[in-house]
Amino acid sequence: MGELNKTPDLSVTLAGVRLKNPVIPASGTFGYGREYAEFYDLNLLGAFAWKGTTAQPRDGNPPPRIAEAPAGMLNAIGLQNPGIDAVIREEVPRIARTFQGPVIANVGGFTVEEYAENCRKLEDVEQCAILEINISCPNVHAGGRNFGTDPKAAAEVTAAVRRVTRKPVFMKLTPNVADITEIARACADAGADGLCLINTLLGMRVDLNTRRPVLANRTGGLSGPAVFPVAVRMVWDVYEAVRLPIIGCGGVSRAEDVAEMMLAGASAVEIGAANLRDPYLCKRIVEALPDLCGRLGVERISDLTGAAHEQEANI
Ligand SMILES: Cc1cc2nc3c(=O)[nH]c(=O)nc-3n(C[C@H](O)[C@H](O)[C@H](O)COP(=O)(O)O)c2cc1C
Repeated sequence: MGELNKTPDLSVTLAGVRLKNPVIPASGTFGYGREYAEFYDLNLLGAFAWKGTTAQPRDGNPPPRIAEAPAGMLNAIGLQNPGIDAVIREEVPRIARTFQGPVIANVGGFTVEEYAENCRKLEDVEQCAILEINISCPNVHAGGRNFGTDPKAAAEVTAAVRRVTRKPVFMKLTPNVADITEIARACADAGADGLCLINTLLGMRVDLNTRRPVLANRTGGLSGPAVFPVAVRMVWDVYEAVRLPIIGCGGVSRAEDVAEMMLAGASAVEIGAANLRDPYLCKRIVEALPDLCGRLGVERISDLTGAAHEQEANI
């Protein structure tokens, strides 16, 4: 395909919400945007996903809660956040001063009711354009098993949230399951408007000298470039399994990765751990996209979504 001269259209749509481009900093790596606003104008982003927010304020897990890994990192932050009321009262007005685009509100919970209540409170927060429901949280009524590892629990959370909001509901899936399409289907059937995948992969490190786990929590979530092929595979599989927009996430660190994730089926892409290595990364990626579209011969970046599946069908 020859190079195009026209400025490519970088905009994408997620369940009716228009983003000026597909680049979204991922939850837990961008706080509520404040720190990154000191590095660059956040308005160049498609959106950003704020830190997983729960009903009560949380200090998170004791340290050490970060460990290095080849081509990635482990984290066991434990959902440290100021709680939904403080976020609405203090962070939301602050965000509005530095970012005028759509915000993706990442919501955590330990019971089905908590998820629903948190989402209900966000209903009048206009700037929260999408609710992203992190179901990698322990279900206290099911012995701490993650909601996201059980199709029935995932469906229950989806339905409960769906009932209390008019905003698009994106369920954020955990990769720590045998078949992610089973969970994706359960969420779709329960009324999800979209899916975000993947969250971190469960891992651990052991210190040779202390002979103890490096993380105080023992285990943590692996993210960063190491997980990219896993995320691409899961986005591919879920794209084939359900007809819902997908936010692809996991290991993205270059503009080319954004395009690859979109070819596999993502409508937009979140970038997590890579922000922690280079706080300017999302800006750099946004700036690299027009050139990349030219090289790939696409006038609209949204044309990349799922295009690898069509290619396959044409073989
Ligand atoms: C330090 C850290 C904190 C995170 N906190 C959250 C969170 O609060 N809620 C959530 O849904 N995902 C959280 N995640 C997961 C990321 O949003 C993302 O799904 C995952 O890290 C994979 O993407 P990446 O490889 O680009 O980091 C966190 C990840 C990291 C590295």
